[in-house]
Amino acid sequence: MERGLREQNRRSWNAAVGAHESHRANLAAFLRAGGITLFPEERGLLGDLAGQSVAHLQCNSGGDSLSLAALGASVVGVDLSDEAVRRARALSGRAGIPARFERADVYGWLAGAARRGRRFDAVFSSYGVVCWLPDLEAWAAGIAAILKPGGRFVLVEFHPAAEVFDEVWKPVRDYPVGGEPLRLDEGVGDYVGESGDGLSPAGFSDGVWGFENPEPCHLFRWGLGEAVTALAASGLRISVLEEYPYANGERHFSGMRELPGRRMVPPEGVPDVPLMYGIRAERTEG
Ligand SMILES: C[S@@+](CC[C@H](N)C(=O)[O-])C[C@H]1O[C@@H](n2cnc3c(N)ncnc32)[C@H](O)[C@@H]1O
Repeated sequence: MERGLREQNRRSWNAAVGAHESHRANLAAFLRAGGITLFPEERGLLGDLAGQSVAHLQCNSGGDSLSLAALGASVVGVDLSDEAVRRARALSGRAGIPARFERADVYGWLAGAARRGRRFDAVFSSYGVVCWLPDLEAWAAGIAAILKPGGRFVLVEFHPAAEVFDEVWKPVRDYPVGGEPLRLDEGVGDYVGESGDGLSPAGFSDGVWGFENPEPCHLFRWGLGEAVTALAASGLRISVLEEYPYANGERHFSGMRELPGRRMVPPEGVPDVPLMYGIRAERTEG
C-alpha cells in the first residue's frame, strides 16, 4: 500500500520538523504553566478526557498530545517522523507532562495495536492528516478496532473544498477524489513559519528562515464524503459532522483575516467556503 511513498514522506517530515519547531521556542514553558494548544473545536468534540486513554495519531512534535495529557488523559502519540517523535519526547520532559510517544507508520501501528489487544477510550487526529493516507478504509477499520465499546474517534481536518484554490484564491484544481496521488517536489514546507503566531500559541520565534526541503513528499487527495464513508463502513456511528468557514491557526492563503481565537477567514470579497471540518464517530456498546 504505497509503502515507498510513505517512507519518502518520512524523510520529508524529518527534514522539515526542525524548521517548524524553531518557531515554537517557548512551547515547553507554555505547557508547563498550564497552557493548552488544542482549539475549542477538538476540545468540544473530544469531551471530558479526565482518566481516559487516548491514542493521538499523526501527533507530530507532541504539543497537542501533551495538551491532551494535561487535560487528564493517558496519551500515546504516534507519528511516522523520527525527528517529530524525538522532539515530542524531549518536550514531554521539559514540560513535565508524561506521555508515551511511538514512532511508527499509522497503518502498521494500528494493526499491531489491534493484534496486541490495546484499546482506547478515544482516538484523535487533526489538521493535515488525511492527505498522508493512501487507504482510508484500512485507516478507519484500524481505528474502529482499537476503540473500546463506547469510545470515540475525533478528527478535525482542513476541508478538501479549500484545495480547489491556489494561494491567491484562484480555483485551479478539481475537488479531491479517490486518494489521487500528488507529488510535491518542494516537500513539506515551513507552514509554521508562514503562519506566524497562528500555529505558535506560546509565542512566535523567528527561528529558521528561507527553509528549503530537499526531500519531496507524496499526498493523497480525498474528498470529505470518502473520509466519512470509510468511517461509517468501519462500523463507527457518525454522531457529528461539522463544517467551519474558518481555519484554525494556519494562514494557508494570502490575505487571510484573523478573528479572535486564531480563526483565519478569507479576505473581503472571497465568498465563505468551508475551510475545516470536524467529525465525531463512536463505537457503539457491545
Ligand atoms: C500536519 S502534521 C499533523 C499536525 C499535528 N496534528 C500537530 O499537532 O502538529 C502531519 C503528521 O503526519 C505524520 N504522518 C504522515 N504520514 C504518516 C503515516 N503514514 N503514519 C504516521 N504518521 C504520518 C507526519 O510525520 C506529520 O507529523
